[in-house]
Amino acid sequence: MGLFFHIKNSLLLPFFFLVEFSHSFGIMTPIFLKTKVFLHVSDLLSHLTIDTVLDMEKGNKYGTHRVIEPKGVLPQTAYKISNDMELFDNEIRIAVDSLNIDSASFTQLKDEANKNPEKIKKKILEIVEERGKMQNPVTGSGGMLMGTVEKIGDALIGKTDLKVGDRIATLVSLSLTPLKIEAIHAIKMDIDRVDVKAQASLFESGIYSKLPPDMDEALALAALDVAGAPAQAAKLVKPGDSVFILGATGKSGMMCAYEARKRVGPTGKVIGLARNKARADYLKEIGFCHDVVIADAKDATAILDQILEINDGKEVDISINCLNIPECEMSSILPVRDDGIVYFFSMATSFTRAALGAEGIGKDVLMIIGNGYTKDHAEITLEELRESKILRKLFEEKYVNT
Ligand SMILES: NC(=O)c1ccc[n+]([C@@H]2O[C@H](COP(=O)([O-])OP(=O)(O)OC[C@H]3O[C@@H](n4cnc5c(N)ncnc54)[C@H](OP(=O)(O)O)[C@@H]3O)[C@@H](O)[C@H]2O)c1
Repeated sequence: MGLFFHIKNSLLLPFFFLVEFSHSFGIMTPIFLKTKVFLHVSDLLSHLTIDTVLDMEKGNKYGTHRVIEPKGVLPQTAYKISNDMELFDNEIRIAVDSLNIDSASFTQLKDEANKNPEKIKKKILEIVEERGKMQNPVTGSGGMLMGTVEKIGDALIGKTDLKVGDRIATLVSLSLTPLKIEAIHAIKMDIDRVDVKAQASLFESGIYSKLPPDMDEALALAALDVAGAPAQAAKLVKPGDSVFILGATGKSGMMCAYEARKRVGPTGKVIGLARNKARADYLKEIGFCHDVVIADAKDATAILDQILEINDGKEVDISINCLNIPECEMSSILPVRDDGIVYFFSMATSFTRAALGAEGIGKDVLMIIGNGYTKDHAEITLEELRESKILRKLFEEKYVNT
């Protein structure tokens, strides 16, 4: 960033040079000297009036200006991006207080660290230091963040509805968001949350949601993390459908089950997967699912057998995978009828396993990759919490004040 001195005293012209202050403003670094004469700052200032044109550098809408390695790719694909917190003209800087690491990534980090919070902390700091963003190297996924708008780039002023001080949650992945962590205060082991002192930059194309005034911020953060799932379920599920939800006891699974139950109407059926009897009882108590399959999520044939038994000998119309573990592609595909839909919201899904696995069993199904974004997803998701007292209570118990 340049500071340009407008020279009033023409006698000084031979000594004209451009100077650049270091970011701390402590050291003066001549970057272009026409003469060998070196002036002290104080000498110079006595002859000059300073026009402080702190012009921000222009950024690319999608954030390609921050890509370090490899060149030419978008920030999500990049291995490393710049997390220098000097703002580009079309970015928004956020003072971050919480990260919501996506469940597939957090599960992997916990497994690798044997659930040791100090090791998880160290790993997160290492990843962000190395990549400039919180992108799990194994799952490739990120999560989202919550914080306060700290500064808005010149080019966005008047164009964004945000103002400095607004509380927001970003709805773009941490796997592409420039992030600088100063300190990690807490690892919230059971809810995938990491409380931090950090800064992040949101690109011009980056979507966000202002935190709603009618609910606790932790509640909104938890729900917005999986906003794509219930909103997509709302679009896919039709009256009379039979819907199978893998991970129905989890965050996105519960929201999808609630939404599916609403959409299938009196002639449809929602079936949830639970890993054991205790989780099945929990699911029945919640009441969003008509029936429950008890099986390990990787056991595709056991799941198919139970689905056929529950669903009058028929495969289901739609399955929704909200699991946080890998190798469950076939458990999602096998129980779906030909021409049915398989919606993979899970970030632990392998495209190769799903495509070749479906081919291998001769299943002609439509497979949908869980785009984290679908139109109005934040509104649909927050509305669910307002609509359903049960859902809100469950979420509050788990995600607020923990
Ligand atoms: N597409 C996107 O943009 C996007 C955005 C955010 C998150 N995600 C992904 O969505 C997925 C779900 O996230 P979430 O936050 O809803 O996760 P979550 O709350 O942690 O739920 C995970 C679910 O998987 C179940 N599960 C795990 N292992 C199982 C097993 N062996 N057998 C049966 N069930 C098992 C859990 O059962 P228990 O309750 O018994 O543990 C739980 O119901 C994750 O993969 C996450 O990364 C995707």
